[in-house]
Parts: sequence; C-alpha cells; structure tokens
Amino acid sequence: MSGEDRLVAAAQEARLRAHAPYSDFLVGCAVESEDGEIAVGANMENACYRLGVCAEQSALTAAQQAFGLDKIKRLAVVGGPRGVSSKGEAVTPCGGCRQAIVEAARLADTDVAIICCDASGTERFSTTIDALLPASFALD
Ligand code: THU
Repeated sequence: MSGEDRLVAAAQEARLRAHAPYSDFLVGCAVESEDGEIAVGANMENACYRLGVCAEQSALTAAQQAFGLDKIKRLAVVGGPRGVSSKGEAVTPCGGCRQAIVEAARLADTDVAIICCDASGTERFSTTIDALLPASFALD
C-alpha cells in the first residue's frame, strides 16, 4: 500500500466514526507528519447546528497533540453521504477549514499537500493549500 493509500485509508476509518446525525454527510480526515505519523478526525455535529466541527479541524487538533502542527506534511479528506459506498464526488475542504490548514502550513513553513476523496477513496483530486486558498489572511 502506498503512503497516499495508507493516509486515505486512515481518513476512511475515521469517517466511519463521525458523529453526523443531522446532515448524514460523513467526513474523515487524516493528517500526516513529515515523519510519517498520522492523526485523524471526523466531523462532530451538534443539535445546536452551528456548533458542529468539521473533520479537518478535528484532525488538526489531534495532530497538534500527536506531533505538533509544525511537522504537518499532507492530509487526506474523504466524505460522502452515510451508507453510500459507490463512487461519488471528491470532497474539498470548506473555506473555514482552508484557513485552519493555512494556520498549520504557516507553522510548518510549507505548502501542505491535500488529497480530496469521495467516501470510497477511488475518486481523488490532489492539490495543495496554496492552490485552494491563495492570498490567505495572516496577522504577520
Ligand atoms: N464538513 C466537513 O467535515 N468538512 C468539510 O470540509 C466540509 C463539510 C462537514 C460539516 C457537516 O458536519 C457536514 O460535513 C455537512 O456539511
């Protein structure tokens, strides 16, 4: 299994542990360090809808604890409706998550590679945070 496949598989596993009873749209994310460590997260919804947390932000929080965001190298995000295992559309990080990934990229002083996938992991789109969010906001 390639490194990319391993990362996508970790995101798929995390997706299955999402808490998304309101949208029924399950998203998983796996963040990889420059040393090959992986931290995962999934979307975590709330009955007060606006308090829901995206998979990417959940995984970035876990990555900060596991190895520190200054070591981030790449991440995979997989998503799709609950119970659908056939090929679908690759999920790209929402605008807020792009800004959160930029925060990590700045700590690591690198462009973060992003593998966007459907739930089955077969539909893939590879990009980077600089491509997804050019001219991003920063305080420095
Ligand atoms: N979601 C994510 O977890 N990541 C994204 O980048 C896009 C959207 C979640 C939020 C919500 O729980 C569900 O997908 C439907 O929007």
